[in-house]
Parts: sequence; structure tokens; C-alpha cells
Amino acid sequence: MSNREELRLRDIETIFRPFHSRKLSLPSRVVMPPMTRGYAPGGIPTDEIAEYYKRRARQELGLIITEGTFIDEPSASPCTSYPNFFGGHALRGWKKVVQAVHTTDCKIVPQLWHVGMTRPFQGDSLPNPELPPIGPSGIDVETLQQTADPMSIAKIEEVIESFTRAAVSAKKLGFDGVEIHGAHGYLIDQFFWEETNRRTDIYGGDLVGRTRFACEIIHAIRREVGSRFPIIFRFSQWKNNHYDAKLARTPAELADFLHPLTEAGVDIFDCSTRRFWEPEFEGSSLNLAGWTKKLTGKPTISVGSVGLSEDFTHLFTNGPEAGSALHQLNSLVERMQAEEFDLIAVGRALIGDPAWAAKIHHGRENEIHHFSKDDLNELI
Ligand SMILES: Cc1cc2nc3c(=O)[nH]c(=O)nc-3n(C[C@H](O)[C@H](O)[C@H](O)COP(=O)(O)O)c2cc1C
Repeated sequence: MSNREELRLRDIETIFRPFHSRKLSLPSRVVMPPMTRGYAPGGIPTDEIAEYYKRRARQELGLIITEGTFIDEPSASPCTSYPNFFGGHALRGWKKVVQAVHTTDCKIVPQLWHVGMTRPFQGDSLPNPELPPIGPSGIDVETLQQTADPMSIAKIEEVIESFTRAAVSAKKLGFDGVEIHGAHGYLIDQFFWEETNRRTDIYGGDLVGRTRFACEIIHAIRREVGSRFPIIFRFSQWKNNHYDAKLARTPAELADFLHPLTEAGVDIFDCSTRRFWEPEFEGSSLNLAGWTKKLTGKPTISVGSVGLSEDFTHLFTNGPEAGSALHQLNSLVERMQAEEFDLIAVGRALIGDPAWAAKIHHGRENEIHHFSKDDLNELI
């Protein structure tokens, strides 16, 4: 490895600097993004889940965003082993998770979720199986065919109240903020996307009209949790089964989309992409988190395939293997040094190895246990 490359690798400290914003301070820039695991029988987070998060928290993470967890609208969840965020039993489980993570310096927020029309009509592990899925226009996200009734105004108001109750519970339990799941084709994103929102009332129409549902949720939460409690908002262009989908085709459209959400009270945007190094629009290298920070002035989280290359084993050794992993990590460091975005989420690599961040930080990459799909079969 050339001296120049070694020098750049020392800049890894960039990723482990503390982060300070108006409402949230973190001991490092590495974030665990929300990842559904399916280990919460009956929707109740177990002691094992608390330990799973703590094992990661103590290894130099700044923030954990929990796996998606359900608001108390009865068709929010597609699966009884995904955790709920309501009811004494589940909330006591979450309290233990918060306490476990707070034995370290790491902060933690729950990701509040409603799956909308992606919920199946039937299945052995479907909670409240008698209820159909709900969505802005009753459109199935995969086939884009209408399979249910459009949500009534009363139902929209009920869901807004349900998100708000969950945020209030998060604050009471001692979480450091909340993340609202507005990404990946689930309920809130079904309102954003023109293919799944064909409404002609105030919750539909142009891109700005389609943000109204999310904005009302953010406003309602803000009213109840006060001005100092951080609200993180996750969004994505891509949807499950529609990886090329776009909410915004140009920076101007992205600005139109983000402006009302920012005004409503979002503190940090979590910009979900599948590869952090991909430019979002032609003519600039900025990724989605880069554009979002530039357009809103808010801190942003970037994400997408960090640390997935097996080449990380050879990061600090000589030879051709070092190439792509080194390139990827240097590109991440360079973008963070340039303040393109503030925080970087590391998903699958952290499922594979709870100590991924500490190992990268301290030159122990040859000890990393690389993620494989088999790791999803247990809560290591
Ligand atoms: C097993 C698994 C479960 C996931 N569950 C969620 C989820 O509940 N909510 C969410 O917003 N994203 C979810 N994601 C997406 C991740 O948060 C993250 O954006 C994605 O894995 C890309 O990061 P990575 O390339 O570092 O893994 C999940 C990803 C995986 C692999």
C-alpha cells in the first residue's frame, strides 16, 4: 500500500468524531439503522433483544435506530413476531432495551412503523387477521392494483393519533428521540408515491399534497413531545419491489418534497439508499443524504452497503484485494470530511459482527465476521 493510501486511512477518525446538533449529541458518527429481525414473540421485545442492541451499542456506535415497531392501529403489523410499540407488556420490554443501551454512551430511538397496503390479507402469523390492509387509495404496492378501500378521513386521523401516542410513549420510556418510517413503500411512503396515492382530496394531488399526511403526523407529534425531543424522518426514493421508483426526479422536486416536512418539524433526515456512493442526480456526486442536507440545512444520515465487501479483511495489507474496500472506505471518509452528510448507518455489516465499528476504528478488520444471510437465522 502506498504511503498516501495509508495516510488517508488514518482519516478513519472522521467517522468516529462526536456529533453535536441542536437537540441530539452522539459519541460517534456510526449509526445502526432499523432492521426487522422477527424475534419478538407476540410483539413483545425480549431480554435477548435488549442484549443484542447493547452488544452493538458498547462497540463505538453513536446511535441505534431500533427495528421497525408498530403503532397501535390494528392493521399496522404484518407479523406477530415483529415488535409492537403499545401495551404494557411490549413497552416494558422496550424500557429494558433503552436501559441496556443507556449503560453505554450510545443513544437509541425507536422506528415507528405502519406497513399499510403491504400487509397481506391472510397468513398464520398475521395479527388481527380479520382486518384488511389500509392505504391511501387501497393500492397493492407490488401489483399496483386496487385491492382495498381508500382510507377514510376518520382512519387517517386515527393513524395520526396512533403515531403520536407512540412518540409520547417513546419519550416517557427514556428514548432519545423517535424515527418515523416514511420509506420503502410502507404506509407513509404510499401517500408520497403517485402510483399508490391516487386521492383527489387534500391528502393527494401533487408531490406537496402527497406530503400532507406525513406533515400532519410530524406536527401532531411535535405538539405532544415539545420542541426539544428529536424527530428523525426516514424516506427513500426506492420501494420494495420497485427499486427504480422516484419521488423526486430533480433537485428542485426534492426541494419541493422536503420543504413541508422540514417546516413541520423534522430535525434529522435519514435518507435511505442502497449504495451510499451513488450520485442521486446527474451533474453532481452528491448522494440523497448530501442533497437533502444541502436543500434543508438539516443534519442527515446516509446508508447503503458500507462494509459489505469481504475485501475489508485485507484493508490494511498490501495487494490487489485491498482495492475496492479501501476505495469504498476512503470515499466514505472523504464525503464525511466534506460534510456532505453527518452520520453513516451500517446495517448488515453490524448484523454480521456487533463489534464491526470498533474493529474498523482500531485496525482489527482482519477479525471482522463478515455478514452472510445465515446470520439472520439467529440473534448474535
Ligand atoms: C434484515 C433487514 C431488515 C430491515 N428492516 C428494516 C426496517 O425495519 N426498517 C427500515 O427502515 N429499514 C429496514 N432495513 C433496511 C436497513 O435499515 C438499511 O437501510 C439497509 O440494510 C441498507 O444498509 P446496509 O447496506 O448497510 O445493510 C432492513 C434491512 C435488513 C438487511
